[in-house]
Amino acid sequence: MARILITSAIPYINGIKHLGNLVGSQLPADLYARFQRDIGNEVMFLCATDEHGTPAELAAAKAEQPVADFCAEMHAVQAKIAKGFGLSFDHFGRSSSAQNHALTQHFAGKLADAGLIREVEDRQIYSNADQRFLPDRYVEGTCPNCGFEKARGDQCEECTKQLDPTDLINPRSAISGSTDLEVRATKHLFLCQSQMKDELDAWINSKSDWPVLTTSIAKKWLHDGDGLQDRGITRDLDWGIPVKKGDGDWPGMEGKVFYVWFDAPIEYIAAAGEWAEANGKAEADWQRWWRTDKGADDVKYVQFMGKDNVPFHTLSFPATILGTNSHNEKAGIPERWKLVDHLKSFNYLNYDGGQFSTSQGRGIFMDQALEILPADYWRWWLLSHAPESSDAEFTWENFQQSVNKDLADVLGNFVSRITKFCRSKFGEEVPSAGEYGPDEEALIAELTTRIRAYEAHMEAMEVRKSAQELRAIWVAGNEYLQATAPWSTFKTDPDKAAAQVRLGLNLIPLYAVLSAPFIPGAADKMLAAMGVQDRSWPKDVTAALSKMPAGHGFTVPDVLFAKITDEQREDWQARFAGTRD
Ligand code: MF3
Ligand code: ZN
Repeated sequence: MARILITSAIPYINGIKHLGNLVGSQLPADLYARFQRDIGNEVMFLCATDEHGTPAELAAAKAEQPVADFCAEMHAVQAKIAKGFGLSFDHFGRSSSAQNHALTQHFAGKLADAGLIREVEDRQIYSNADQRFLPDRYVEGTCPNCGFEKARGDQCEECTKQLDPTDLINPRSAISGSTDLEVRATKHLFLCQSQMKDELDAWINSKSDWPVLTTSIAKKWLHDGDGLQDRGITRDLDWGIPVKKGDGDWPGMEGKVFYVWFDAPIEYIAAAGEWAEANGKAEADWQRWWRTDKGADDVKYVQFMGKDNVPFHTLSFPATILGTNSHNEKAGIPERWKLVDHLKSFNYLNYDGGQFSTSQGRGIFMDQALEILPADYWRWWLLSHAPESSDAEFTWENFQQSVNKDLADVLGNFVSRITKFCRSKFGEEVPSAGEYGPDEEALIAELTTRIRAYEAHMEAMEVRKSAQELRAIWVAGNEYLQATAPWSTFKTDPDKAAAQVRLGLNLIPLYAVLSAPFIPGAADKMLAAMGVQDRSWPKDVTAALSKMPAGHGFTVPDVLFAKITDEQREDWQARFAGTRD
């Protein structure tokens, strides 16, 4: 049994994700996690909310809530929606957890000991009334370019000019409105990534089987322009993880927190600690997934994310891990952390001729999707159209077509046809007469080949190819029914028809098990209607097709997938054309 550690990019706390976010990280990660569990491997699938940074503070301020309360509420909202989509996390953590505080400070301390952190003097706007430094977008004033009076310190929203807060005319604090501002010297910590360029380069070069999308982005950042730059890893914010060196103070860094992109990936590790705490497990139980000196060296670690996240996962986060590991090695400390083994990245999903946009509320958001249709409809469309080799586009026509054809006509219709026919001619029990012949053998041979191909695509995280193969497996069952036509056979040779029906019925639990990673809800319904509890993966197809022996009772399930009507489609198209309020 292999051990697979899976993480999905952790979604920002400030708002509900749209379907483009979902298909680029959490959903394919879930597909892979479900598949790995179903074939019998031990899986740890982790995700969390990304709770720090200015956007979280600003969203909380807009909601007129203390930021901690806002995050707690939004975490619960996101957890519930994730559940609604069937995302099977072993733990859905929070980057604001005590575990992440401790680990982030721990790694920072190690990097400092390794000489990989330097202090940089900076000049920044300080608000006397608010008693704090103001991040760029917390300073408002008149745009020197167009005269817009509500320009932000980072950019004027009116004329789009990029600004520095000191450019603003009549600057004021966006928090209190106070104009009692001054420029003060302040210090920040920088992670010396440039020192690690060769090590990172060698590590990336060793990943010959990674998608080109992933390695090309990493290479670009390593080699283009001035090459890999050191990164600021601290901010002057209240909300965040206080800057400390391990559990000791960091002189000169009082009142500062770590930059959100420093602590967020560390939450992948901390989430395992949260999982242990939530489930009454010991330290060793989560460390065996993350510490190669504590049993994690046989773990395969896979990350899922959209392409915009790739630089942080191929450079910054590995710099944290590599820097810590090599420091420990030099210092004779056994502590070693797991690096990612495979990084699966995605392009973007567009929405109906434009982009999905959180800030503009354009497209379909996860909560809205579940309000109109069950998760399986979305899961199937999104995964079978995953933006792997290029950007993809959601259109309502395509969605309607895919649901109606693949789910309703191919899979749903198969299940309904065979169960109803059996009920009408033999009752709600698997008929016992007749023997399998060449038609059944041919089908079993075809299914065996296709299932092996399906497994190979799933193992390789080829999401679209997996969906295509699964669909072909469903089609094979339909074609078998069409060709053997038990309803005609019945008139001349009822025993032969009985054998055909027996095989047809047994395809349902087989399809349920194979389809479960994509459409877990429908898979459960199929198994329940067939009265089958055995969810074992079909290593041997003939054996898998005897889960419903002669005499086994079943029921005709309710319609598995309802077709989307033209009226519904037009209705939804209109409803989602504008922007979300
Ligand atoms: N919150 C980021 C986003 O939604 C992803 C963070 S992934 C992690 O783009 F590495 F930071 F964990
Ligand atoms: Zn302007």
